[in-house]
Amino acid sequence: MSDIVFLNGRFLPQDQAFVPVMDRGFVFGDGVYEVIPVYGGRLFRVDEHLQRLQHSLDGIRLANPMSNAEWTEILQRLAQANGGGEQSIYLQITRGHAPRDHAFPLDTEPTVFIASSPLKPVASELLHDGVAAITLDDIRWKYCHIKAIALLPNILLRQQAIDAGAQEAILVRDGVVTEGAASNVFIVTDGVIKTPPKGPFLLPGITRDLVLELAAAQGLAQQECEFGPEELQRAEEIWLSSSTKELLPVTRLDDQAVGAGRPGPIWRQMHRLYQNYKRALIAGAVETT
Ligand code: PDD
Repeated sequence: MSDIVFLNGRFLPQDQAFVPVMDRGFVFGDGVYEVIPVYGGRLFRVDEHLQRLQHSLDGIRLANPMSNAEWTEILQRLAQANGGGEQSIYLQITRGHAPRDHAFPLDTEPTVFIASSPLKPVASELLHDGVAAITLDDIRWKYCHIKAIALLPNILLRQQAIDAGAQEAILVRDGVVTEGAASNVFIVTDGVIKTPPKGPFLLPGITRDLVLELAAAQGLAQQECEFGPEELQRAEEIWLSSSTKELLPVTRLDDQAVGAGRPGPIWRQMHRLYQNYKRALIAGAVETT
């Protein structure tokens, strides 16, 4: 993490930022979060991230402590305080600290914590060779559209993938692919880009939406539709999207080659479009607040 963080109304060095041990984030995982990239000192899709934050807060019945204008100003100040450039901003809101009781506390202030870490470019080997993924049973709860800080199932699933020599777990619930442990999933079959539709079983990824937007602007065939593990296995291409990894090609699935075993042509095109979008953002040619 970079030096300066924001905690409950104050900017301060990270080593001076403390939260009471009875914070419900610590005790219960009772909170929500966002991860917002910064490119060239500019916040990436901040309105969309703040809108998803609002949905997450609504989902756990926690009042939003700030307006979007206030959030945006704080995020911009934090990005600046940490030197601009490329950063990954982590924003977390918990239900605050109170004696341990499952029921919501009355009159407790939420804890607001924002930190930033350097956003390293995605390693060139990953773009050149692609990554490996394994399919696993989606053991998570039924509110995966809420970006909850309680990530134990995601952590266990991701670690299972790492232990198997892969980078990501692609999750299957009741015969349907949902998403990755920390990413959204795309496939290409018969030249059509497909991704599961939004719903309670997956996080509505900001990167996912941008990929669909960029593909639509290029007139590429795309569909938001359910598909199962067999179609995933047969796919010509598989991609993973997330704020920190952008769009990664999966070239091995469950120890089998995906398509020709190399990043596919439609991924290459999408990756180029994504990089162009980032360049436009850095140049100030993309509308942001
Ligand atoms: N995670 N699905 C899950 C379960 C995720 O955790 C993430 C991102 C995504 C992709 O969403 P977005 O494109 O908005 O980043 C999908 C972040 C990066 C994290 O937890 O660090």
